[in-house]
Amino acid sequence: MELSRRKFLTAVSMLAAGAALPGNAFGFGEANKLKVAIIGVGIRGVDFWGKRLVDKYSDILEFVGLCDNNPGRLEHALKFMGVSCPTFSDFEKMVTQTKPDLVIVTTRDCNHHEFIIKGLEMGCDVLSEKPLTTDENKCQAIIDAEKKSNKKLIVGFNYRWSPYNTKLKEMLRDNAIGKLTSVDFHWYLNTYHGASYFRRWHGIKNQGGSLWVHKATHHFDLLNWWIDSDPEEVFAYGDLELYGKNGPFRGENCRVCEHKNKCDFYWDITREQFMMDLYANNEKYDGYVRDNCLFRNEIDIYDKMSAQVKYKNNVIVNYSLTTYSPFEGWRVCFNGTDGRIEAWIDIPYQEKMSVEQAEMHAREMDQSGADVLSAEPVVLHNLWEDFKIIKVKMERGGHGGGDKRLHDKVFLHPDKKDEFDRAAGLRDGAMSVLIGIAARKSIESGKPIQIEKLTSLKPEVKRIV
Ligand SMILES: NC(=O)c1ccc[n+]([C@@H]2O[C@H](COP(=O)([O-])OP(=O)(O)OC[C@H]3O[C@@H](n4cnc5c(N)ncnc54)[C@H](O)[C@@H]3O)[C@@H](O)[C@H]2O)c1
Repeated sequence: MELSRRKFLTAVSMLAAGAALPGNAFGFGEANKLKVAIIGVGIRGVDFWGKRLVDKYSDILEFVGLCDNNPGRLEHALKFMGVSCPTFSDFEKMVTQTKPDLVIVTTRDCNHHEFIIKGLEMGCDVLSEKPLTTDENKCQAIIDAEKKSNKKLIVGFNYRWSPYNTKLKEMLRDNAIGKLTSVDFHWYLNTYHGASYFRRWHGIKNQGGSLWVHKATHHFDLLNWWIDSDPEEVFAYGDLELYGKNGPFRGENCRVCEHKNKCDFYWDITREQFMMDLYANNEKYDGYVRDNCLFRNEIDIYDKMSAQVKYKNNVIVNYSLTTYSPFEGWRVCFNGTDGRIEAWIDIPYQEKMSVEQAEMHAREMDQSGADVLSAEPVVLHNLWEDFKIIKVKMERGGHGGGDKRLHDKVFLHPDKKDEFDRAAGLRDGAMSVLIGIAARKSIESGKPIQIEKLTSLKPEVKRIV
């Protein structure tokens, strides 16, 4: 029993370092399961890292504890996940009593660092949801804690694992367009998904680090991984022009709002039983209102964002993030000395069928496994040649098929060498949030920000894996 657990934990540490482990599968069974604990049983904790692990990997792992400061959500988590482990409001008590091998951190972004650091100090491996953290001081504290501990940190970057994104990595790795020189990357959040961030804690800078960190960490991680170098300098602009104080009116929350008949953003949470059970029915414990007004005066994040990022290998990136697009999608173009790659997902004018925009986010977050398959195009246009269209098969649910592949890597195949180095550890988590943190600082100061000035991590020409 101990041997299997030790082998798994060695694998976790090598996984975090992006390395490969020689050897076979771990041979977990009914008698020797990996002990897992979660801190934060909101939607991401209870569904993706909760129910999905119970449904898919119960033969090799077991939940030994759940922790949250909302007792109602803890009760809901036990039922929804179908487990009967003890629950806690105190993280240290949970770790002391249940001795988990792996702690999964799915609280708000601004307090990930507390549980990552305590988890490492208390002798657990830690898996943190993105973003790693929200400012450079917390980031440094995590770097120091991991160095002191003999345990490891994995960051759950699911977007890398989508087959479409992996195809782009493969083409760049194989020099399909010669030496990469510049990238244009533009992400469009629609008025359902984009707006949803302004209803919640994500709308407050000191909770989610702004969408430069909360959302763009995914995009910056993809860029760092595709470009295969570290970011060196960031210059950014951003403003808040539609949501927050800009709204024509505001109310208490959507349920009781006197403006619901004239507000284009009105969202009726009472029609979604899962959201009622998870959030609205537990408001009384902590005042967390899930259908808050997105025109609240307290909102202080940006709703339009644009940055230039210069990489250590001299690649330059033009990036933008929009939060009130009529459609949800993204577009990336890579320019190289031998041509150009163009890729996009969900640009309606380039699709044969139109998609209901209200469904887009639900489809992305879907963990049911009822995958809708599609073949998405990538255009490769080499200099002096005709363009070619490459079709990439992918799923729509679970972040483009990324979610389930990330799980399989962490829990089923941590020992397998991954030719695309998709497993992410502390350095990847840090480098992606540091771009967003630098962008925020650039807007505040009007100056370009050097990544090396933010923490002890020094940007490298070739990414360290
Ligand atoms: N990788 C992805 O695609 C993806 C998708 C969704 C969310 N996320 C990440 O997952 C995390 C959770 O997101 P969510 O939407 O579930 O948020 P949420 O607000 O719904 O859930 C957070 C939970 O943490 C609990 N919590 C907060 N502070 C706590 C504390 N100090 N002690 C104990 N419990 C505490 C809250 O009560 C709540 O139940 C975030 O960091 C988010 O960025 C990642």
